[in-house]
Amino acid sequence: MDRIVIRGGVPLHGEIQISGAKNAALPLMAACLLSEETLTLSNLPHLADISTMAHLLADLGVEISMNGHAPNGGHAGRVFGLSGKNISSTTADYDLVRTMRASILVLGPLLARFGEAKVSLPGGCAIGTRPVDIHLKGLEALGAEIELEGGYVIARAPDGLKGGRYLFPMVSVGATENLLMAATLAEGETVLANSAREPEITDLANCLVAMGAKIEGIGSDTLTIQGVPALHAAEHSVLPDRIEIGTYATAAVITGGDLKLVGARLDLIEAVAEILGSAGATIQEIDNGFRISRTDCELKGVDMITEPYPGFPTDMQAQLMALMAVANGASLITETIFENRFMHVPELCRMGANINVHHQASAIVRGVEKLSGAQVMATDLRASVSLVLAGLAAEGETVVNRVYHLDRGYEHLEAKLSGCGARIERVKD
Ligand code: UD1
Repeated sequence: MDRIVIRGGVPLHGEIQISGAKNAALPLMAACLLSEETLTLSNLPHLADISTMAHLLADLGVEISMNGHAPNGGHAGRVFGLSGKNISSTTADYDLVRTMRASILVLGPLLARFGEAKVSLPGGCAIGTRPVDIHLKGLEALGAEIELEGGYVIARAPDGLKGGRYLFPMVSVGATENLLMAATLAEGETVLANSAREPEITDLANCLVAMGAKIEGIGSDTLTIQGVPALHAAEHSVLPDRIEIGTYATAAVITGGDLKLVGARLDLIEAVAEILGSAGATIQEIDNGFRISRTDCELKGVDMITEPYPGFPTDMQAQLMALMAVANGASLITETIFENRFMHVPELCRMGANINVHHQASAIVRGVEKLSGAQVMATDLRASVSLVLAGLAAEGETVVNRVYHLDRGYEHLEAKLSGCGARIERVKD
């Protein structure tokens, strides 16, 4: 298995191009199942999860053409043409679904267009139990009949889905996306209350509107959808990855460096920018992105609590914990979205961090002067990248094992960081 080896202590200087958002690209790709006509998506990141979704869609009969690379400020995002004209199967097999939780996003579109779908219960990052009960209850509210059998969700709506009102019992990004897609083809009006408001949902909604869907309340927590008989062809460019933006912004701050994040949007990371600013970063908007630095200022501990958007995102919690590990003073970090999302803590402690977790829900981080390099490994994507950040700041050599997690979510991670002076390389076994 590949490893990433980092020799830390170098302040990062230079430019990093931000890629398209993985978490927007995955539901956008699933949306092609809603139409007979071709959906063309550009600025797709080159990531393992995108390939997994492409395989899953191809297995259902989606024809995928790769139209080369679209120019994007000097950067090349991938362009896919996705045609759902000749769907040959409405079953998403265990082997394709088990590695990625977002596979469940094919359920709503398949059911809405074909009146049936059989999708394996998903796997994905090992962060808590992560059930899909809300996805299923929401589809039932639109008239679906759902059974669980042999590890599969079997959903039927022989006469098509019917519009309805559904109040999400808790904010769920994936369930909002699944229901939103399904409702575009349901008969009549659907109201989705307490919807998630993440920018990736807004991106999906905008693409669905371009495909002919009728959606009101985009960006708010109440989405109202008037069902239409069919959706049509559209072109859509995936929005920038706000978690990648936040991660590289943290890399600048933790190393005491100065980075230009090209293609980044500050409005997508307001809560993270607020924390980084309080910790001592200077942030300045520039053409097509922003610049972030911490060159002559000490790092200060800041408290934070994860919340649905526009609050501080759980997907940035591990990275900012790495930062707080080397700040002056203490920081209280509370996780409210996922259970068991502190698996990076023992690994950061192996590098010399002083962190105590209470009831699996909050962590007290007492900043230390220096971290020291060590062999570490992580069991999820964001935890893995937090160890890379810690390694960039640490004295000596850090080896991050199980790199496949990073490949699921960070495009050209080593190249982007080494281009700014980091001493980082991938070692193949
Ligand atoms: C998405 C993101 C993930 C991010 C998460 C929260 C994608 C591909 N992934 O994941 O990176 O960390 O949002 O911002 O976009 N829940 C239930 N039942 C359900 C659905 C969810 O109990 O049916 C719970 C989950 O276990 C979790 C919480 O709701 O505790 C939020 O999960 P959700 O917003 O659905 O996350 P994902 O869509 O899986």
